[in-house]
Amino acid sequence: MSRDIYDPAFVKGVFDRCSGKYIAFSWICSMGFTERWRRQCVAALPEPPGPSGYDLMAGTGEVWPHLLKRFPEVGPITAVDISSGMHARAIERLHRHRAHHIGFIEDDVLASDLPDDSADFVISTFGLKTFDAGQHMRLAALIARVLRPGGSFAMIEASDPRGWWLRPLYLLHLKTILPLVERLLLRGAQDFALIGTYSTRFGDASGIAEMLRAEGLEVVFSKHFFGCATSVSGRKPEA
Ligand SMILES: C[S@@+](CC[C@H](N)C(=O)[O-])C[C@H]1O[C@@H](n2cnc3c(N)ncnc32)[C@H](O)[C@@H]1O
Repeated sequence: MSRDIYDPAFVKGVFDRCSGKYIAFSWICSMGFTERWRRQCVAALPEPPGPSGYDLMAGTGEVWPHLLKRFPEVGPITAVDISSGMHARAIERLHRHRAHHIGFIEDDVLASDLPDDSADFVISTFGLKTFDAGQHMRLAALIARVLRPGGSFAMIEASDPRGWWLRPLYLLHLKTILPLVERLLLRGAQDFALIGTYSTRFGDASGIAEMLRAEGLEVVFSKHFFGCATSVSGRKPEA
């Protein structure tokens, strides 16, 4: 039976089952690169006009320490994630990262009714790959709608480094080594291996860069470490 791996209910199940080991997996399998890329995503965020914003597909809140380090006065941050497992772990972290700065909405971000012009910034780390092109279009429209004029955004995702001579090695890592680590060390279902499938199907963030531009935002597209991750960042023009 074929399954739709982009169905929000399916994605929620994947992350609910992964949530217990997500932090360790993310670190081990990227050899620390995910932390570096989260930091680079925060560094790419143009100075927001005010302190409040959204962390979309927030997971366990991995980006918050970087955000709070660069902007100590930031808040409230509203984190949005569909997975109750990731949400539960995020709540544990809130106590360590100044709970009063951060609120959490457990919802499908594309079905949520975040108000218009309600955010000074939007950030998102590694939340793009589980969306298909149609969902990316809806996400781009959502970001353009919720940002205040002058508001800024930055998003980063693991990507396919097309044209890089070490790409075959990188794909071997994603498609063969990650599933092996998962089987031998993490004893999950096939869920972590699926994260590799999402990453290779995603390609890179150039598609969503175009969609954000079509929504009227100013967008910079950047490659990180030979294109193993790509990011989009920019602003909603002042009215
Ligand atoms: C790879 S994790 C990234 C988590 C975190 N931002 C990080 O830097 O590690 C992707 C997250 O996106 C969430 N997600 C996927 N689809 C979603 C949707 N439609 N609405 C809200 N969250 C979603 C998943 O539950 C998961 O926690």
